Amino acid sequence: MDITWDMFVETEVPKDELIISRTDLRGIITYANETFAYISGYKPEELIGKPHNILRHPDMPKRVFKELWETIEAGKIWSGYVKNLRKDKGYYWVYAEVSGVYKDGKLVEYKSMRSWVPKEKRIQMQRIYDQMRFEAEEKVRGVSYLPRKLYDVLEQRAKEENLSIEKFLEKLLIN
Ligand SMILES: Cc1cc2nc3c(=O)[nH]c(=O)nc-3n(C[C@H](O)[C@H](O)[C@H](O)COP(=O)(O)O)c2cc1C
Repeated sequence: MDITWDMFVETEVPKDELIISRTDLRGIITYANETFAYISGYKPEELIGKPHNILRHPDMPKRVFKELWETIEAGKIWSGYVKNLRKDKGYYWVYAEVSGVYKDGKLVEYKSMRSWVPKEKRIQMQRIYDQMRFEAEEKVRGVSYLPRKLYDVLEQRAKEENLSIEKFLEKLLIN
């Protein structure tokens, strides 16, 4: 069975630590501090050279990152709440500030500093982002408890057609 239980496990950023990274102008990670590595579950050397979207959590609405890029490309500071994906598919919430790094007045890189988010805020942002994805007709997170027999049948039928369970249900119910 191909289920990742870790996806429901939250890692809390310590209140007194900062997650720091820098990227090139395309968003490829060029620097990661120790805190970034252990909170995200990667080794620093696994992060360097990778696009920053390896942390993208499926719960994040597309519009948030569109606004992030538009803001920093316009030379301004973007700040906001981000739910990030860990290497083990768990997650962690951060409050992030992203902005340009300038050398002799020229934009050379981007940097991001992230910190702890209070629990009430995490709950509020989860609701807001779920609503944003729903309104933008993006993916909906569906968690359901199925009787074992029903799950086995679903899994078997999907396997026979060489499809994921999601694709199998789509084919069965929508086409
Ligand atoms: C300095 C910097 C830091 C970023 N930090 C994150 C981050 O922590 N998590 C994240 O999902 N995207 C982050 N992004 C945005 C990603 O580059 C990317 O736009 C986002 O993950 C959405 O993926 P997509 O553009 O492929 O749709 C950051 C971008 C920059 C420039």
